[in-house]
Amino acid sequence: MARILEDLLKASKAHGWAVGQANLAQVRVDATLLEWTEVPTRRGGPALSTLRPVDQAAAEPNSLSARYGKDAQPLHTDGAHLPNPPDIVVLACETTSTTPTRLWSRNRYGRFIGGLPEFVQHGVFLVTSGRDSFFATATEGGHLRYDPGCMIPCDARARQSVQFFGERGSSAVEHQWSEPAQVLLIDNRRVLHARASAAHEPEREIQRLSFHLNREAS
Ligand SMILES: [Fe+2]
Repeated sequence: MARILEDLLKASKAHGWAVGQANLAQVRVDATLLEWTEVPTRRGGPALSTLRPVDQAAAEPNSLSARYGKDAQPLHTDGAHLPNPPDIVVLACETTSTTPTRLWSRNRYGRFIGGLPEFVQHGVFLVTSGRDSFFATATEGGHLRYDPGCMIPCDARARQSVQFFGERGSSAVEHQWSEPAQVLLIDNRRVLHARASAAHEPEREIQRLSFHLNREAS
């Protein structure tokens, strides 16, 4: 029985994320049972990545680290450059980290203030992904796609959206990696996330797995 992931998925319905205790081997077994598909977020890369703070010069081109280095990242979704971004991102930390992960859910915003502004729904971005670049809005059928590292605003409404998402950082919730073996499941289509500044913790290691849900089963 795929207990860990099912529990986390159920718990994430409220805010868009959930925290549990597990290791990634268990997560992978559960995902297989649920028929979720692992998604590499870099072309030709592995689905499982180890995320480490890196300086701008050492970062992958077009990555947030290439622009922000070890400083705090802006809120974003993962795989925004992909035509079909991952539904779920699972972050895991075997030890502990003093660098929190920031989380902001469109659901929380919607509940309190009445939904995302119209400019977020209509502003057009160029999503840069080499020869596979394409145009997109930051919401698609209620799903979020936003990463200022790879999305260039093309009109006034998209520029307003950049400002809007930039200002959401102050209301983000911080997940503290204060206990070993924590996993954080993020609904990548409803929630923006970001690493806080890791300048003080260059040895930080977080592992990441991304998935498409088995939509036929849900
Ligand atoms: Fe990310």
